[in-house]
Amino acid sequence: MEGKAYYMNKPKVELHVHLDESFKPETILHFAKRRQIKIPANTVEELLKIVSYNEPLSLTEFLAKFNHYMPAIAGDREAIKRVAFEFVEMKAKEGVVYVEVRYSPHLLANSRVDPIQWGQEEGDITPDDVVDLVNQGLREGEKAFNIKARSILCCMRHMPHWSLEVVELCKKYQNDTVVAIDLAGDESLNLQAAPEHRMAYEEALRSGIHRTVHAGEAGPPSVVKEAVEVLMAERIGHGYHTIDDPHLYKELLNNKMHFETCPWSSYLTGACDPDFTKHPVIQFMKDKANYSLNTDGPLILSSTLDTDYKIAAKYMGFTEDEFKRVNINAAMSSFLPEKEKRELLCKLYKAYDMEGTEGL
Ligand code: NI
Repeated sequence: MEGKAYYMNKPKVELHVHLDESFKPETILHFAKRRQIKIPANTVEELLKIVSYNEPLSLTEFLAKFNHYMPAIAGDREAIKRVAFEFVEMKAKEGVVYVEVRYSPHLLANSRVDPIQWGQEEGDITPDDVVDLVNQGLREGEKAFNIKARSILCCMRHMPHWSLEVVELCKKYQNDTVVAIDLAGDESLNLQAAPEHRMAYEEALRSGIHRTVHAGEAGPPSVVKEAVEVLMAERIGHGYHTIDDPHLYKELLNNKMHFETCPWSSYLTGACDPDFTKHPVIQFMKDKANYSLNTDGPLILSSTLDTDYKIAAKYMGFTEDEFKRVNINAAMSSFLPEKEKRELLCKLYKAYDMEGTEGL
């Protein structure tokens, strides 16, 4: 069977997707109206025209999109819980059986966060409350849609003073959906100048919190090296530019480092050559690297997981075996406890008619 048709009806695993880039447009409009928050759209079509895009944008243009819709959801208990619940519904519809969803609790809070984001008035929803609400939504979603969802809490590169609280929240909610810490944002910011990120990751390591880092997306391989050596990352978010440093790439291949790749996202952010037939994922495939296929931000990118799978099938020469391998690798590199990981792998092997010995 062609790789093309394969992904449609098989269970999938997704490891890199941002909750705050996955809201349903209808939900944004609903809460904007109910809370009387002005956003520059009245219909789904108008909203999508403003927040999503199909051609590469600059980072500034990209970040501006958040200002349009985040105020509708941030700082509202019901809205935060609902977007988490609907996220699980959306992933279940895409055939995902296990997902790790990430977000910055600080970006959705309106109390005990400095500075308060999106021009919100001070309220009573702290970053801790945000995690609790998202957890409730995810758990209810798991029950309703019969898939498994875990979460990753993001530190932001430009807000180092949030990072130590992020790791404390990871500890407080460890295994109550939260499985890991992430570092997101502008890779050009110097990590050395912000020791809080390093301190948060050291604490994560000490506390048994898993670690992933956005690195080598638009940034150079040195950021990937730093993620591995200084932040002790177990997975790399994107990581495309690792291949620009053959020595580092070889080392990470040998160590079976997992790369959370997001092909459509990398096109729109201009992280890679826009010609998909020259994409680093093809190199990863040829070298049998440990990597997964992910959406990153389906609202802003106006995509679903199918978008990325179709690109892989159409332009990257993916076979049925490669789709299987990518999903098995994603399950193996997931941040689930060992027993649950084995259960997930068994589910995939069964659905893929495999013996349970293949994969990495
Ligand atoms: Ni990302």
